[in-house]
Amino acid sequence: MMERSRRPDQDDGEAQIPHGMSITDHEFDRIRELVYSRFGINLTEQKRSLVVGRLQKVLKQKNFATFSDFIRYVEADKTGEALDTLVNRISTNHTFFFREKEHFTYLTEQALPEVVGRMSDRDMRLWCAACSSGEESYGLAMLLMDYFGEDYRNWNAGLLATDISAHVLGIARRGVYPSDRVREVPPMMKNRYFTKVDKENYQVTEAVRREVTYRRFNLMNTDFPFKKPFHIVFCRNVMIYFDVETRDALARRFFDHMMPGGYLFIGHSETLRRDICPFEYVRPAVYRKPLK
Ligand SMILES: C[S@@+](CC[C@H](N)C(=O)[O-])C[C@H]1O[C@@H](n2cnc3c(N)ncnc32)[C@H](O)[C@@H]1O
Repeated sequence: MMERSRRPDQDDGEAQIPHGMSITDHEFDRIRELVYSRFGINLTEQKRSLVVGRLQKVLKQKNFATFSDFIRYVEADKTGEALDTLVNRISTNHTFFFREKEHFTYLTEQALPEVVGRMSDRDMRLWCAACSSGEESYGLAMLLMDYFGEDYRNWNAGLLATDISAHVLGIARRGVYPSDRVREVPPMMKNRYFTKVDKENYQVTEAVRREVTYRRFNLMNTDFPFKKPFHIVFCRNVMIYFDVETRDALARRFFDHMMPGGYLFIGHSETLRRDICPFEYVRPAVYRKPLK
């Protein structure tokens, strides 16, 4: 359904939306501020009807008569559930196994041999930031297990996977995916790392699941509570929601929590400002922390 055009006499910029609900400029600005300050997500004016359309469903489900009622509920809620609902409606959790395959190829053929070759211990730390429902993080774990083969058990190759949404983290922890989502997994990996749970679904094996630690984490936190620096960070398809300043600041925090020579992978449609970014540009969507 189309959003109705605004009448010139609607001086509060009231946007009419389907089913008789409307949002005022003031309400939209409050949602923008909330979403920006809590999640770093930059909602432009062009996103107005999208936001309204998506939130309207929540308002109806929860019986809020106005957007102001909903905003008050989000601001007052201490459980984090309301914020979770908000971020789930505003951003997308879209992901799939081995998305942007070139990254996984580059990781096994270039980044891992280089990083491993420089290590003096067997303590490798990877972080999959904004992991959504787990396809990306499990893909990484499977790839690592394949890369090291028999020797994997001699490595302490911890994989941390984080997202702001408790909902997607729940799916990730269970590791159960419908068969059409597992289609992208190479057959060898599918046989090795998945078990069929029923006609429709596959589950990532326990051996892979225990290699990934899922935690809720907001990338806007200015304090990254990690004791040891990471060798590899995947942070893909989330920076697209952030403005350039937020992206720069986040890249700086990654940098401060990575090993020299460590690799940062971002989404192919995302960029870091090369004049500001402390990383070396390696190739599209791949960056490295200089050795010195
Ligand atoms: C499009 S998914 C990307 C998933 C995966 N990285 C990929 O590339 O397929 C974006 C994810 O970012 C998460 N997200 C959005 N804002 C965030 C924030 N401020 N901190 C952490 N995660 C965030 C969302 O919950 C969502 O799961």
